[in-house]
Amino acid sequence: MKYDISKLTLEEKISLLCGKDNWRLQTANGKVKEVFLSDGPSGLRKMIADVIPTLADVNSNKFKTVPATAMPTLSTIANTWSEEMAKLDGSTIADDCIENDVDVLLAPGVNIKRTPLNGRNFEYFSEDPYLSGVMGKAFIEGVQEKGIGTSLKHFIANNREIDRCFQSSEVAERTLREIYLLPFEIALKAKPWTVMCSYNPINGIYASENKYFLHDVLRNEFGYDGVIVSDWGAVHSPYKAVKATLDLTMPYSDKFYDQMILAYNEGLITEEEIDFAVQNILTLIEKTENDKKKISFTKEERHENAVKIAKEGIVLLKNQDNILPITSGKTVVCGEEAYNPTLGGTGSAFVTTEYEQISIDKTLNDLSKGKAEFVKSKCIIRNGFYMEITDLLPLAYDCDNVLLCIGVEKMGEGYDRTSIRLSPRTEEYIREISKINPNVIVCLYSGSAIDVSPWIDCVKGLVWAGFSGQGVNEALANIIVGETSPSGKLAETLPINLEDTPFYLNNGNASVSWYNEGIFVGYRYYEKYDKPVAYPFGFGLSYANFTYSNLKIEKHGELDYTLCYDITNNSNFDAKEVSQVYVKDVFSMVLRPEKELKGFSKDLIKARSTKTISVKLDKRAFAYYNTCLKDWHVENGAFEILVGSSSKDIKLKKKIDIKLPNSEQYSSSCMRYDK
Ligand code: GLC
Repeated sequence: MKYDISKLTLEEKISLLCGKDNWRLQTANGKVKEVFLSDGPSGLRKMIADVIPTLADVNSNKFKTVPATAMPTLSTIANTWSEEMAKLDGSTIADDCIENDVDVLLAPGVNIKRTPLNGRNFEYFSEDPYLSGVMGKAFIEGVQEKGIGTSLKHFIANNREIDRCFQSSEVAERTLREIYLLPFEIALKAKPWTVMCSYNPINGIYASENKYFLHDVLRNEFGYDGVIVSDWGAVHSPYKAVKATLDLTMPYSDKFYDQMILAYNEGLITEEEIDFAVQNILTLIEKTENDKKKISFTKEERHENAVKIAKEGIVLLKNQDNILPITSGKTVVCGEEAYNPTLGGTGSAFVTTEYEQISIDKTLNDLSKGKAEFVKSKCIIRNGFYMEITDLLPLAYDCDNVLLCIGVEKMGEGYDRTSIRLSPRTEEYIREISKINPNVIVCLYSGSAIDVSPWIDCVKGLVWAGFSGQGVNEALANIIVGETSPSGKLAETLPINLEDTPFYLNNGNASVSWYNEGIFVGYRYYEKYDKPVAYPFGFGLSYANFTYSNLKIEKHGELDYTLCYDITNNSNFDAKEVSQVYVKDVFSMVLRPEKELKGFSKDLIKARSTKTISVKLDKRAFAYYNTCLKDWHVENGAFEILVGSSSKDIKLKKKIDIKLPNSEQYSSSCMRYDK
């Protein structure tokens, strides 16, 4: 260790436990290096001013942040289903951090999309804990390989923005283990330098002073040995936080030091407890002094990476009459998103970019090289309001296709949506246009689920552009003209209406949110309760068509399998396919989902060729969390292994029989309580 804790006075040690301002750590009278923390998950958001902005300031993006690459949001990263893209995303953002002397990037967030209303869903990966954890792990690896730290956040059960600072998330143990802790448990394998606790109480105790989750679960059970940092302003009692093994209180608090000295003098906290936190912070500071900080992408290459990732995260949802790709005829392009696309959400994930957008019709014409023609209408549509459409109507009559680029109202930190529909006028607008010209393609720029059911039957094409950063329109244009086959798949179900979502009946109130839906979140809910959805989890179309065949299951042990299956590309398009592996416990003593995602693979399959894919399954692919045993438990009996191109489109399946020794089985009485 470069920094010797014994060389620090008690006062210096206590000073290290709290930030120096909004972004910097203390230096103990210059005895340690100054460390700089900065957001965020969609790219570097380094404040130019060191003042503490109000949330209103932040949401109005009043505070200028240093120019950086606006990368696709983590919701788009998840829609790529590609660990390679998640890593590339992290590595690209790390270059902006190195260039701006930032030591720790405050990302990724792996909170579960419990409700489509959550204002920060664009910042998170998925409704599924396995996909969230695997993508979060890859993102962390991408950042930290370049000597920049990360912050796995927000630990835990922060699944909406309204009342986030004091509404207690009341969650049963099994639900916590199988849904809300699992993404962290998986992502921790990448050894994030910091974990950020959430604002909310969990079962009545603030996360920042919740010793069970911070110490017993995160540190002892999950083996986490890095720094636990508070969310900004999430600490209510400094000494209780340190006793719960939260190490670093952010941002600077002028009361912190005096409160800690008082608590120490009154014997409420020991020097040993203080030293535990200080040592973790000294280790973090030392990690930031490494020789791995080498920039590998130029500014232009970072933009290219943003485009490349967006191409893999854009999802083709509807392609009636193969209206896409557009390779001939005349298409009118309409909507403000066409030339001023929404790149991401507001709040701490906001990114200032200097990249000058090129109107999508220009890119479309350039790529099309005269085969098809794209003309831009002057009308503006952005969800919630739109200008006169007089300019569009005549164009729509004499064009072959209409490309509507539609955005949604702002999404961001500190507020939740109240609806998942487009505005009534935008919905009416789509219907009206389709009466004039039936060949309507909607490109939807949204950071979280939208109920498309009121108008989806009126359009022939629907492309989910997501919140996909500064390269979104370049990526979209490549897909629209067929340069790239779309390969994204939904990491969040698109429900038919809000009343059908699991959260709808469990809204809670200002002080408490009961997670009564339990483990039945996202597709787990829609399938268990047979709720129809517009587009299911894992769904996404391609320009190629794939057939799956030849599923073989190789058994290495009772809970150790390798699946192999073939995917054939029957088209002339080279294309990537995301195949998904789900596991179903055919008969269980406890209530379990119809199926759960336990593996996936994204593979380039050349035109007219076949590729053999292999996916491993271990104990955790079959287990549920048994709260009597306080452990993951696999019941003997039949399980189904399901391989699909989405959660609803299962292509191959096989049954296996698990026969563990009786000593590893338990009487039903023990299991009866695990609802
Ligand atoms: C915010 C966010 C957190 C962010 C931090 C610093 O309140 O909850 O995600 O990293 O404060 O901006």
